[in-house]
Amino acid sequence: DGLGGKSSTEELVENRMKDGSVPFSEPGKAGSTVSITVVGASGDLARKKIFPALFALFYEDCLPEHFTIFGYARSKMSDEELRNMISETLTCRIDKRENCSDKMDQFLQRCFYHSGQYNSEENFSELDKKLKEKEVGRLPNRLFYLSIPPNIFVDVVRCASHCASSANGWTRVIVEKPFGRDLESSGELTRCLKQHLSEDQIFRIDHYLGKELVENLSVLRFSNLVFEPLWSRNYIRNVQLIFSENFGTEGRGGYFDNYGIIRDIMQNHLLQILALFAMETPVSLDAEDIRNEKVKVLRSMRPLQIDDLIVGQYKGHSAGGKFYPGYTEDPTVPNDSLTPTFAAAALFINNARWDGVPFLMKAGKALHTKGAEIRVQFRHVPGNLYKRNFGTDLDKATNELVLRVQPDEAIYLRINNKVPGLGMRLDRSDLNLLYKTRYPKEIPDAYERLLLDAIEGERRLFIRSDELDAAWALFTPLLKELEERKIAPELYPYGSRGPVGAHYLAAKYNVRWG
Ligand code: NDP
Ligand code: BG6
Repeated sequence: DGLGGKSSTEELVENRMKDGSVPFSEPGKAGSTVSITVVGASGDLARKKIFPALFALFYEDCLPEHFTIFGYARSKMSDEELRNMISETLTCRIDKRENCSDKMDQFLQRCFYHSGQYNSEENFSELDKKLKEKEVGRLPNRLFYLSIPPNIFVDVVRCASHCASSANGWTRVIVEKPFGRDLESSGELTRCLKQHLSEDQIFRIDHYLGKELVENLSVLRFSNLVFEPLWSRNYIRNVQLIFSENFGTEGRGGYFDNYGIIRDIMQNHLLQILALFAMETPVSLDAEDIRNEKVKVLRSMRPLQIDDLIVGQYKGHSAGGKFYPGYTEDPTVPNDSLTPTFAAAALFINNARWDGVPFLMKAGKALHTKGAEIRVQFRHVPGNLYKRNFGTDLDKATNELVLRVQPDEAIYLRINNKVPGLGMRLDRSDLNLLYKTRYPKEIPDAYERLLLDAIEGERRLFIRSDELDAAWALFTPLLKELEERKIAPELYPYGSRGPVGAHYLAAKYNVRWG
């Protein structure tokens, strides 16, 4: 019967209050206020994700009673122009709800803009003055969202911490990815940030951790008796973490060429899911307990071998009378770029629970479909009474648990079932929890959850610096080898299933991609 008419966010708020562990009302308690500054407010991420998420939180009454939002960027804009930008480009799950435009008007009255340079203490002091005017008479708490290219993170943090941090409330900074491009540069970034901020003030975002199904992974494992006992090498044959997009890097080629798919998706989004999937039961749901367990998984991983990696790059392809340009045909990408837009890798965790179980990752742009999922393939049933019903291909009989992160969120378990009738024919059917039928209310965007958590000081879904180090330590040697040996990616047509090498890699470990 769904959520009884409550939105997911309402439910979330209610649970947080009931449970008492996260005092939801804390940031907005009488006498305090939160000032949220979106640095890089003129940019793509701010428009597409951050402002819509803030509005959705406001609509759902999740923001503290007293708050102010400031956009900060170099572009010249008045408050009114920022408000127009927000309302014109705003598309979010709330769009069709009642009173949306009244709520939007109320929201926009709380939005302001300050134009300034990212390395100017003077400009940040001006911002500080404007913030103080809005905060007058209240305990000020300040949240800065760095929605800017990474080369200016440190400048902004320096200026904001010297000239615009809260005098007696908290100051927190959400940092967008990428956090460096290897172990060294990421360590350097952390060192520089820590000259101005403590680890507690840094909220490194990985928006995949804010996705509903990724959050649910721990609930599924630790609150259901039927899964946890099977969650090991004894019963699980392999785990697949799959990300695919059916569009290329159009418009982001400049950024992408310096990073590639391994840094863009695998080292962060997929590895974070792997850590959550494989971790031991944490002592509690506290952020530090969960992050401690994730770090243990990352540090237990077997060093990645180049033979366990295949890379690809999409090439131009004509379909349905339209030409889809290849990666290197983007004018912002060098013609001879070897940057992978696709990668598949086999990873292993050297611990008692997971020894020998392949964790296969696959991530690609310009593929035939868009989606993200976690697939768990179980072992064959020993001495299966029904094995003759499956012929020689026992793989067809294995159970599979799938968490479809997006689109069309779902959890389904593939089981073998008797086809109704007089004979004894078996087929594979799904026990299917399709979110849109079970929970008809829209699912909050990942950025909503993460922004709310940052306001509340909840760090569970943000990346701690030792987690980041462990993630880079795993991928850096492989990335170096790939680049030093100038390994050419296997070309695959735009819109295809990706390079055939991914199948050979899986076959090496007796795995078939789901
Ligand atoms: P943009 O390239 O749109 O940059 C944001 C703003 O930063 C721009 O509007 C511009 O503002 C300023 N800016 C851009 N380039 C420079 C530069 N070279 N020097 C100084 N200022 C500059 O970035 P996005 O909004 O796409 O992304 C912001 C951050 O979020 C980045 O770190 C990105 O990697 C990350 N990210 C983005 C995603 C997305 O979907 N867009 C997804 C995940 C992460 P102005 O000129 O007005 O100062
Ligand atoms: C970002 C990557 O982190 O995630 C992008 O930089 C990618 O390349 C995006 O497109 C995918 O996010 P989502 O939420 O659309 O799956």
